[in-house]
Amino acid sequence: MAAGHVLELEGVRKSYAVGTPAQTEVLHGVDLALRRGEFCALMGPSGSGKSTLLNIIGLLDRPDAGRIRIDGQDTAGLSEAQLTHLRGHAIGFVFQYHYLISAFTALENVMMPMLLERGRADAAIVERARGLLDRVGLLPWQDHRAGNMSGGQQQRVAIARALALQPPLILADEPTGNLDTKSADGVFALMRDVNASQGTAVLMVTHNHALAERCDRIIQLVDGRIVAPATSPG
Ligand SMILES: Nc1ncnc2c1ncn2[C@@H]1O[C@H](COP(=O)(O)OP(=O)(O)OP(=O)(O)O)[C@@H](O)[C@H]1O
Ligand SMILES: [Mg+2]
Repeated sequence: MAAGHVLELEGVRKSYAVGTPAQTEVLHGVDLALRRGEFCALMGPSGSGKSTLLNIIGLLDRPDAGRIRIDGQDTAGLSEAQLTHLRGHAIGFVFQYHYLISAFTALENVMMPMLLERGRADAAIVERARGLLDRVGLLPWQDHRAGNMSGGQQQRVAIARALALQPPLILADEPTGNLDTKSADGVFALMRDVNASQGTAVLMVTHNHALAERCDRIIQLVDGRIVAPATSPG
């Protein structure tokens, strides 16, 4: 287990409907390692298990077997509270349907992870949230309700929010999936930029070959198995 990895999976298996006649194994023993600061695309046909894998890596779901190390920490045997803490600090989430709170402003959405962490708003949190919105080019939109913003803008807010606690890893499930080409390019460029300037590793599920080609590496998942080299070269 190298110290240079932000994520390491070994033999991860996941079945649904366990113990029923409909039981199906979706992930058949996935091994995967992501270096610190690496930007990887995760591709594969619909139904191959990409979202299932991302949910397991994001500690939103538990595997039936296998090991998961995040930011050097083995997740086996962690309590729910410890998993929640690790999820909050080590991982930023950017999903296709951004899950912003649409009635809240852009600024309030970005502040949310910091509010949950500190328990109350203070000037430092507001300043940091403003800085993050500036980073994604949306400072002038800070007081707009998220629900009134375009898809591309909402995804930028989601990226700012994902960066709030400076996680070493961002998990993105089709972050550009419902955007037009220009907005998709902008959102991808922003993630690339964050990755380059802050060294945040990114694992991005995408069906977009042009964007995947611009990542450091493409991991292919087919029928719950990784078919392309899943460890970092070198
Ligand atoms: N909660 C669940 N209960 C039962 N089966 C599930 C559940 N979630 C996913 N599956 C099944 O697991 C398989 C993999 O689904 P998953 O959503 O991970 O695929 P995906 O690669 O993300 O596909 P897409 O590209 O369409 O998003 C599918 O056959 C799906 O039906
Ligand atoms: Mg999916």
